[in-house]
Amino acid sequence: MSKIGTKIILVTGACGQIGSELTLALRAQYGGDNVVATGHRTEPDPELRDSGPFAFIDVSRRETIESVVDRYGVDTIYHMAAILSATGEQKPQLAWDVNINGLYNVLEVARERQMVRLFCPSSIAAFGPETPRDNTPQETILRPKTMYGVTKVAGELLCDYYFHRFGLDVRGVRYPGIISSETLPGGGTTDYAVEIFYEATKHGRYTCFLREDTVLPMMYMPDCIKATIDLMDADLAQLKHHSDFNLAAFSFSPVELVAEIQKHIPDFVCEYEPDFRQEIADSWPRTIDDSAAREEWGWEPDYDLPAMVADMLEKLGQRHAEGRL
Ligand code: SER
Repeated sequence: MSKIGTKIILVTGACGQIGSELTLALRAQYGGDNVVATGHRTEPDPELRDSGPFAFIDVSRRETIESVVDRYGVDTIYHMAAILSATGEQKPQLAWDVNINGLYNVLEVARERQMVRLFCPSSIAAFGPETPRDNTPQETILRPKTMYGVTKVAGELLCDYYFHRFGLDVRGVRYPGIISSETLPGGGTTDYAVEIFYEATKHGRYTCFLREDTVLPMMYMPDCIKATIDLMDADLAQLKHHSDFNLAAFSFSPVELVAEIQKHIPDFVCEYEPDFRQEIADSWPRTIDDSAAREEWGWEPDYDLPAMVADMLEKLGQRHAEGRL
């Protein structure tokens, strides 16, 4: 049992792009010992390892979740473990297993133990080519053409089912592409928008795997962490939606990002060699209407494109100068 009045939080996918920074933010807020970081195979980096408990979990094997949950008395889960869109197209069976069977296991463990709250992210990948691509509404056509998208739509529906059928307080957002300076993303279609900063800083050039005019919704990591924590702290009585909030900060194409980077690194050169990920990107929205999130839990991003680019280049430039990039 959890200590009365103290949340005991578990983060799955804690070594991943979002999980690693989310875990540290939650530890800063709730205390290191109250946030159990978990991962599958990947070794945690020293900051994650030394700031609180770490345990191995394979979300597709329910007993590995149960044993960690029961050992620590977990009552709140941030379920960040997932296979992203590009890897999902190369390994659709694995994407189903991790994203659907893994989610089902987490939901069942939470239901059986009557947990307080659960966070399960969805994505802009829940949309498809028939969805309106500009100012994509909250309620709209969800017919994705990727396995990742299929698992995200099914996941949203499953989470809402657990809320209505079992009273489990599950919450989630449709993340846009997330840009971060700490842990690299892996296997996503929006990954170019992170890689480009590392290559610009280290080599002054980058070859982009999407066409230069491919506009996608994006967000800087501090806003992603803020959104995640704010939604989980929101008053349940104010929420009309639960697992499927549209979420936006800004949208740009590779060529617009390059122009912004060139304001800081004038010699930066970008070439374009679109690959199979272009088709995935072409099936996603350009801009998102996130008014439900703004109305129901006060969502508002802090970073626009210029502020994000300036902060990314400052952080990576610093690490490069110290030989840590
Ligand atoms: N960033 C993710 C991807 O590209 C979208 O949710 O797969």
